[in-house]
Amino acid sequence: MAGLASGKGSLIFDPAGVVAEAVPKAVGKEREIVLGRNVHTTCLEVTEPDADDESTGDKEAAMASILARYRKTLVERTKHHLGYPYNLDFDYGALTQLQHFSINNLGDPFIESNYGVHSRQFEVGVLDWFARLWEIEKEEYWGYITNCGTEGNLHGILVGREVFPDGILYASKESHYSIFKAARMYRMECEKVETLVTGEIDCEDFRAKLLLNKDKPAIINVNIGTTVKGAVDDLDLVIKTLEDSGFPHDRFYIHCDGALFGLMMPFVKLAPKVTFKKPIGSVSVSGHKFVGCPMPCGVQLTRLQHINALSSNVEYLASRDATIMGSRNGHAPLFLWYTLNRKGYKGFQKEVQKCLRNAHYLKDRLRDAGISAMLNELSSTVVFERPRDEEFVRRWQLACERNMAHIVVMPSVTIEKLDDFLIELIPAREIWYKEANVEPPCLADDVGAENCSCALHK
Ligand SMILES: Cc1ncc(COP(=O)(O)O)c(C=O)c1O
Repeated sequence: MAGLASGKGSLIFDPAGVVAEAVPKAVGKEREIVLGRNVHTTCLEVTEPDADDESTGDKEAAMASILARYRKTLVERTKHHLGYPYNLDFDYGALTQLQHFSINNLGDPFIESNYGVHSRQFEVGVLDWFARLWEIEKEEYWGYITNCGTEGNLHGILVGREVFPDGILYASKESHYSIFKAARMYRMECEKVETLVTGEIDCEDFRAKLLLNKDKPAIINVNIGTTVKGAVDDLDLVIKTLEDSGFPHDRFYIHCDGALFGLMMPFVKLAPKVTFKKPIGSVSVSGHKFVGCPMPCGVQLTRLQHINALSSNVEYLASRDATIMGSRNGHAPLFLWYTLNRKGYKGFQKEVQKCLRNAHYLKDRLRDAGISAMLNELSSTVVFERPRDEEFVRRWQLACERNMAHIVVMPSVTIEKLDDFLIELIPAREIWYKEANVEPPCLADDVGAENCSCALHK
């Protein structure tokens, strides 16, 4: 049997149990996004129970077998996952005892509602940990555990908009799509700022755009790790550009989108610091990425002074409404609390170092094989030439954009896994280009000529 076997609340990986044909087949033309792609051919129907199901146990047995097969698929898909920034390596066996409770932190984390099955005590413990990390006093911050990094961004930009209702949102064009979604949702004026080849915000273009709009306050999204290239915007330079362009601290609001590297950066030597000692308004991070969590979640922190403008009391809750969502996942704080306690700052530091080392290993192996590849200095995202074969892309679950693919090296991405990937990629690539009788693409515009191994630049 392949896959994960249960043993006393923990999961043990059993490689023999991997199903061979679990990779979904690519449907439609290359790179085309097909709505509802093949899901209806594989969806699992919900059927009405038969009258005698309870006595025969047939339905239970059928469902158990479906779930067991699904589990095998998850094992296989976990084994071949490289493209998305998720740490898939965790063991939360100790928390299985809590699965039987409907834990909901609806309302404000700091004001208990009438619903007693909550985990606020864990939530606030986690928030305090992040407050220490980002250097803000307990009495001065407000925050909550979100459903994902996107929710943190939606909240951060909303706080900015409430502080400056006529503010213009500035975000580099390589910012995550949730930032532009926030602009659309809140009907905000938005200026897309150019980027450098690394993916960082281009502060010259930022300055030019600020100077054209000096009459309106600025709300800025700063990326602590962009989605595709893992680029870290230079927070200090962004602040300096604002100051030099005539924006005093009470005329701008900075939201730091740390979804990807917000939790890694504090542990990278020489990395610029994200701290509330600088004039920033909020920071958000995803909990299921570097930390690793079985469900999406995130953390959003802002200054308490900003939150009063945004919140209102809700009698029905006996709490305050200052979050984006209503009901809030009360399990997520437990998972975060558990990992933070187990690993601590030291544990995370070690994992960050391992990720950076492994990312360098991957970049070097790709370059040795004549494949264009780039790795930003503060990042564990290796950008490289998009594999020609969509089946291969799907097998390894690579995230692609134009001619680029990337692998985000998380703690679950080991050297062994990278070797497995390279052993498949390198010979397959030779065949793809030989069969198509074409040259590999030029990636100079995307990753810089120095990182490009096309016929012209190698
Ligand atoms: C830079 C950045 N911001 C925000 C997000 C959104 O995070 P989530 O998927 O947790 O909503 C992502 C996701 O990859 C991201 O890369």
